[in-house]
Amino acid sequence: VGSGGREHAIAWSVAKSPKVDKIYCAPGNAGISEYAECVPIGAMEFEKLADFAGEHDVDLTIIGMDDPLVGGVVDVFEARGLKVFGPRKNAAILEGSKAFSKDLMKKYNIPTAAYEVFTDEDKAVEYLKNNRKYPIVIKADGLAAGKGVIIAQSEEEAIDTVKDMLEGHSFGGAGRSVVIEEFMEGEEASVLCFCDGTHVVPMVSSQDHKRIFDNDKGPNTGGMGAYAPAPVMTDEMMDEVKVKILRPIMAAMKKEGYPFKGCLYAGLMITDEGPKVVEFNCRFGDPETEAVLPLFDGDLAQVMLECVHGNLKKEDVKWKKGCAVDVVMASEGYPGSHSSGEIISGLDEAEKAGCIVFHAGTVKKNGKYVVNGGRVLNVVALAPTLEEAKAKAYEGVSKIHWQGVQYRHDIADKGIRHLKAKE
Ligand code: AMP
Ligand code: GLY
Repeated sequence: VGSGGREHAIAWSVAKSPKVDKIYCAPGNAGISEYAECVPIGAMEFEKLADFAGEHDVDLTIIGMDDPLVGGVVDVFEARGLKVFGPRKNAAILEGSKAFSKDLMKKYNIPTAAYEVFTDEDKAVEYLKNNRKYPIVIKADGLAAGKGVIIAQSEEEAIDTVKDMLEGHSFGGAGRSVVIEEFMEGEEASVLCFCDGTHVVPMVSSQDHKRIFDNDKGPNTGGMGAYAPAPVMTDEMMDEVKVKILRPIMAAMKKEGYPFKGCLYAGLMITDEGPKVVEFNCRFGDPETEAVLPLFDGDLAQVMLECVHGNLKKEDVKWKKGCAVDVVMASEGYPGSHSSGEIISGLDEAEKAGCIVFHAGTVKKNGKYVVNGGRVLNVVALAPTLEEAKAKAYEGVSKIHWQGVQYRHDIADKGIRHLKAKE
């Protein structure tokens, strides 16, 4: 269920499973339709999705997106005895409510930025007036399409932001409470994990590039590219992450009565004091998934079924050697209002150059792929080293054209710099 590059990568990966003979995708996109039958059901139409799965004897439904998970699609499927990969509504709240996840981390001593939750404007303003450390981070509670986080550089900006969020002028219904938290200095990394309610098995680490322009400049986006694995996540660091963050959060969720099944996404900041949680998401990351899954060397359908059945086997989660780089190609104007309808050329040439192209915002018109969204394509390359994977991905990118296309030129550079510093 979904229609982005993440869902394309998931469909591509499960299509390799000997267990899988038919894939449907609701609603899907032009790229996904190459190997899945796309059905015009929206991701929030839970009853229709469950009707479809029941009528077509679908053995496993995979939910890609956060909104349906937070809205309880898994509960609707389970009530009908249908198998579904993803957390129930009461566990998806780990992403759905920042206040919930921050409180849980505090209760179970999981390292994260110090924070306070406010619903009362006067109290929030008083807190900000007593705070001497800026920047400070202000988050609207609830899902806000990634736009609910403001890093305020001054007291004035912080107070304005809090007022705006609590009075509900911005961020829709998501602003009824705000989380104010300490700004963490460090480098970010993402760790996606398979979870079966009790056990957690991390995938290879990855790193997203959230800003629109090179060198992390400009406004935040859904993500402009990713690479995996992330050199900042050394084996020792990953062990620390497992011991201090992943196993404790799984145990906490189970103990609180919300066992987490599905993909847990840990967004981490690697600080001088060790790894700290920036956020948890209750689903695969986008664009991280497009870099991570091509390195997966197991049977994704099998591993997902194990998660659903509560018997995840670590030895089934296997990885290829080497690195993956994913460069996102976006339409003109993104992340603001963007263009659409331009004809895309060069997709075959990019594949001939050895790249995998995962579609996000595309549609097929008169036999041609055309732009139909902000993030349009993910061009992914695998190679023995990060530097080679980057070169190959950009070779693929150079073959693809449309009017107004934009992309970053520095995807994976942070990782390459890490490796050079170690040499
Ligand atoms: P979130 O939606 O919580 O992931 O926040 C979006 C982005 O804001 C993150 O990916 C970080 O780059 C940044 N961010 C969020 N919280 C913090 C924090 N406490 N310190 C520093 N950066 C943060
Ligand atoms: N890559 C950020 C996210 O999926 O939330």
